[in-house]
Order: sequence, then structure tokens, then C-alpha cells
Amino acid sequence: MLWEERVMRAAHPVAYRALKAAKKPVLRVPGLGVLVTNATLLRGVLMDTEHFSKKGPGASSELWTPILGPSLLLNMDGADHMTLRRKLGPLFSPSYVDALAAASLTDAVASLGERLRAGEAVDVVAEVRRCASLMIGQLVGVPVEMLDDDLFARVSAITGFVKLSKPRFTPAQVEIARAVLGELTAHSVVAYREGGTDTVPGRMRELGLTEDEAMGAVGAFVMVGTETLVSYIPRLVAVLVDSGWFPQLAADPSLVEPAIAEGLRVTTPSPVMLRSVVGAAAIGPVAVRTGERVILATFAANRALGPFDPSTNVASTMRQLWFGAGTHFCLGAPLAMAQIRLVTDALLSAGDVRIVSRTASRGVMIPSYSTLVVQKK
Ligand code: HEM
Repeated sequence: MLWEERVMRAAHPVAYRALKAAKKPVLRVPGLGVLVTNATLLRGVLMDTEHFSKKGPGASSELWTPILGPSLLLNMDGADHMTLRRKLGPLFSPSYVDALAAASLTDAVASLGERLRAGEAVDVVAEVRRCASLMIGQLVGVPVEMLDDDLFARVSAITGFVKLSKPRFTPAQVEIARAVLGELTAHSVVAYREGGTDTVPGRMRELGLTEDEAMGAVGAFVMVGTETLVSYIPRLVAVLVDSGWFPQLAADPSLVEPAIAEGLRVTTPSPVMLRSVVGAAAIGPVAVRTGERVILATFAANRALGPFDPSTNVASTMRQLWFGAGTHFCLGAPLAMAQIRLVTDALLSAGDVRIVSRTASRGVMIPSYSTLVVQKK
């Protein structure tokens, strides 16, 4: 079995089989919801905020609002959502993001490249976890020494509670999640209250966010911004090695951007998006009712275009569907891309690598490797 397949199955053994078995572009799956696997129909749902919302039964709001409050972006819709996104915009402008990525990652990626070139066997997952934590830590105002593997494991444990068949957390899970996030936001609150432009929470205050909005944003960045990258970069490396493209990319930097896009397409780190039907509508031939849950299987739509191939780069036709579409399009995409580019360049500086060992993570929300050890050939 292909490793990409193993990674998906290890994360969601039951749901992944059910989703993969769907033979129609839109299908009502008992106990799960209305499943959409066609890219055009899926994009249509994302763009139609009149009938499909992130707030409501079965959508993201049911999961995250009890833990992080109502101002999280990913559990909001309408004018409030647009206002908060507009306020946060400057934090994700290309110049701010590039400076943030360079400030947090320059030393880490330089050391990674050096060790690989010297022949050391390196666990890409551990390296990316460190890099993602450094960057998110800076974004949310958490001191570097707090960003250890233990904290990362506790954050992953929260997302690990998420199962497609269970749209809500249990009260005990809510309590655990609140404790972990409370620990993180304790630092962000101090930075917010101090204000100024030296820390991101301080800057959020300058940008006009209330304390609740700023802490919601901090929580959202931690929950969605670390695991997606810790999933993606090692999976990209594995795809590059397994497909034989790694040395070609190392020799020809013009292939790196298409390869990153193709990697995002075939892996789709955030494999599904959820919406709640808020007004009777139709998705293709299937009529949907208010209160129904829609599962947008982005990974299936993306993979339908064929295997990874940076030379044809069919990903370029997808308008970055792996980051969503419409009003909820990934706010952190520029930051994610900045980090992906920096770490990928460091890895490619080794010229060519082999995979020494790897293991897929079990029972996680975002499919990933738990280890991926590589070494220069
Ligand atoms: C490879 C990495 C990433 C992928 C594949 C990814 C994917 C996505 C997707 C698909 C959505 C839309 C979900 C929906 O419409 O239901 C989203 C939203 C979001 N992402 Fe990302 N993401 C990544 C990295 C990041 C990072 C690094 C951050 C922040 C630091 C971030 C912050 C956000 C936020 C705040 C939203 C919510 C936006 C809104 O609802 O308005 N993401 N992401």
C-alpha cells in the first residue's frame, strides 16, 4: 500500500474507508452527513454562505466554540467574521509574514541544512514541529522555552478527540482542552495587555481587536496552524523521495514551487471541511435541508486529478482548494507557504536523501507521520 494511503488510514481508519468508498460526487451517508467529493460542487458550497455556514449543527462551531469562545473566525460567519478578518489582515501581509518567518526560523533551518549535508540522520517530523512551534509561538506571544514537545503533544491530544462521526467534544474533553489552551493564552493575555508592536498579541490590540477576539485568534492559530504544517512538510518530503523527484528538485529550483503546490494537492493536510445547511438548497442533484451537515472531502476532489507530478502541475488549476475558498480561505496561508519554502529549501540543500524509517500517526485529526527519518544519500 502507498504510504500516503497508510497515513490517511492510520489517522481515520473508519471514516476514511467510508469516504473513499463514495462513488458519486454527492452522497448522503447515514450517520455522517452529505458527502461532496467533486471540486466544482465543493467550491460552490464554500462560496454560498447564504445556504451553508460554519455555524450550526455538525459544523466547526459545535466543536470549537465550547473550548475557545465565539470569536474564532473558523466558527463565525457574516459581518462579524468579515470585520474580524479585516482587523487581522495586516498580521498576514507578505512583508509581515516573511519577516516573522525569517526571524523565527533562520537559525533552525540553517542548522537543519548543515546537519543533513554532514550526513546526520534527521527526523523531519521533530524538526518541523520545532519550526512550527517557533513560528506559532512568536505569533501568539508564547515564550520559546514553553514550546516543548510535551505542549505540542497536549495540543495534538485535543485535536485527536475530533472524529468525523462525533461532531461535539464530551464535557471531559472540553475541560482538558480548556486547561491546555488556558496555559497558552495566559502568556498571550499579558502580551496583549502590554500592547505595543513587539509582540503579535500587542499588535492585535493596536489593530483594534478586543481581548476576547485576540485570544480567540491566538487559540485558532495554535489549533490550526501547527499540526497542518507538521503534517504537510514531512508528507511532502516522503512524496518527493517515494516518487523519485527529490534529486531533480534539488538540482532545479524552478520545480520547487510547482512541487509544493502538487504536494499540497495530493496530501491535502486539512482533508475535509464541514458546513451546516442554513437554508434549503441543492448540491448538484441532491436536495439538502436546514440542519443537515455537509462534509466537503477536499482530499478526494484534489486527488481525482491524478498522481503527484510537478512537471504537469495540475495543481495550478485548483486555485489552492487545499486552503479552502471564499470568505474562510485559510488566513494563515502566506505564513504556511513562507515556512514550507524555508524548510523545503533547507532539506533540498542535501542534494538527495533516503528514508531511513517512518511511522504514520494513529487516531489524529490531521493525517501525518509521527516520525520520518531521512539521511543524505
Ligand atoms: C499547510 C498548512 C495549512 C493548510 C493546508 C490549511 C488549510 C486551511 C483550510 C482548508 C481552511 C478553511 C477551512 C474551512 O473553510 O472550513 C483554513 C482556515 C484557516 N487557517 Fe489554515 N491551513 C494551514 C496553515 C495555517 C496556518 C499556519 C495558520 C495560522 C497561523 C492557519 C490559520 C487559519 C485560520 C485562522 C483559518 C480560519 C479562517 C476563517 O475561518 O476565516 N492555517 N486553513
